Amino acid sequence: MKTLLQINTSIFAQYGQSTRLNEQFVAAWKAANPQGEVVVRDFSREPVPHLTGERFQAFLAKAEHRTPTQQQVAAYSESLINEIHEADVLVIGLPMYNYGIPSMLQSYFDHVGRAGVTFRYTETGPVGAFQGKKAYVFATRGGMHAGSNRDSQVDHVRNFLGLVGIVDVEVIYAEGMGMGDVAKQAGIAKAEARIVELSPVVAANERLLTPVARAA
Ligand SMILES: Cc1cc2nc3c(=O)[nH]c(=O)nc-3n(C[C@H](O)[C@H](O)[C@H](O)COP(=O)(O)O)c2cc1C
Repeated sequence: MKTLLQINTSIFAQYGQSTRLNEQFVAAWKAANPQGEVVVRDFSREPVPHLTGERFQAFLAKAEHRTPTQQQVAAYSESLINEIHEADVLVIGLPMYNYGIPSMLQSYFDHVGRAGVTFRYTETGPVGAFQGKKAYVFATRGGMHAGSNRDSQVDHVRNFLGLVGIVDVEVIYAEGMGMGDVAKQAGIAKAEARIVELSPVVAANERLLTPVARAA
């Protein structure tokens, strides 16, 4: 049985455009994998705390020496890490906020990227612990940035995922979300068309698509 980890990062919760695309992709994946399990991590429901010096000390402390507070911090980090270990597929919403990634996604990375736990340094560079997984990233943004030097957030996400061993990453863009209705619908339709391509099963289920994608 396959497991999909859905990570919703939009500050707009279920109304976020990236969350909606995540949902559509997951519905398509469920149609193709009826026995599959979907695990949802939604930052709007469960905020991820910033990594502070105290929290980082909890990672460094030996398990048997951790205080009760440090044990909680380490257990939280380990629960996030285990969710990824158990997933075959990751689906990540990636809104662009002030040219960056959502700050809680950075905090999530900070709790998951742990030297000696999720990656280790070798003579040929770091080697990640999460091998053989596939990630789909839904990158939503108000403007048009793909391929330009304003799109550093996608490189950042690819670099982080690569560090922890996730190198098979497809980024699906929905751009122009803030450029008027026509541009917005075109951006969404393009992303939805890719979801259909990725899972032919979804094409048979028109309820999953917006009118624009149906007409395309
Ligand atoms: C706080 C904030 C900052 C934003 N910064 C940018 C930006 O730097 N560049 C851009 O193209 N769009 C920017 N936008 C627009 C969002 O990227 C766009 O609304 C996108 O759909 C957000 O994804 P979401 O709906 O999943 O949250 C910003 C929106 C918000 C709310």
